[in-house]
Amino acid sequence: MNKLLSASVMCADLLNLKESVKALEDAGVDYLHFDIMDGSFVPNITLGFDLVNAVKAVTSLPLDVHMMVNDPARYIDRMNLDERDFLCVHYESDIHIQRTLSQIKDRGIKTGLAFNPQTPLNGLQYLTDYTDMVLIMTVSPGFAGQKLFAGAERKTRHARQLLDEWGCAHIPVEVDGNISVENGKLLSRSGADIFVMGTSSLFLKDKSIKQAAQDFRAVI
Ligand code: DX5
Ligand code: ZN
Repeated sequence: MNKLLSASVMCADLLNLKESVKALEDAGVDYLHFDIMDGSFVPNITLGFDLVNAVKAVTSLPLDVHMMVNDPARYIDRMNLDERDFLCVHYESDIHIQRTLSQIKDRGIKTGLAFNPQTPLNGLQYLTDYTDMVLIMTVSPGFAGQKLFAGAERKTRHARQLLDEWGCAHIPVEVDGNISVENGKLLSRSGADIFVMGTSSLFLKDKSIKQAAQDFRAVI
């Protein structure tokens, strides 16, 4: 599977977002990653639906929307997403996650199913028909600038193995949280396909976005 880069927009220069989006396009990233938080599922509030729609209207890049909210089904229709975009919801956030994934698919949007570090992957085996991507959180979600959790490599490998066993080699595994060059290399070898790049690897003080993306691609 192709290795893909998803740039974390919450870590970009938000006061100059239009220029940041242009720089990300020029750098050749594959997706724009939007962290949507509700201050309840995670203890933080960041980007919102209007911003997602505003960027969607001006970019040629597909979006990778990561919903860290309780009962995400309430918000599916708030964003103008299409068949190129991922709308990713957390396994823990909705007791009827199958219905929610199904509703996203009915709208022609690609689904993602996210798992917090401590959440077992058991339920995934019954949901593969509704899942276009699996997101393994490599930190507890909510904040940029955290440290990779100790089980991240093992869990990424496990997710890849299970999907392959279930005949789902086509479903990519995404990793999110502290994806530095070093961790990206490690997790790529463990089977990760999509890498969320934030403060750890893409938005750096001493390197351009283009150079950072290039350096990261070289190791995954
Ligand atoms: C977690 C966020 C962060 C962020 C990634 O909810 O999705 O993972 O974008 O950035 P860093 O590299 O700071 O962890
Ligand atoms: Zn995220």
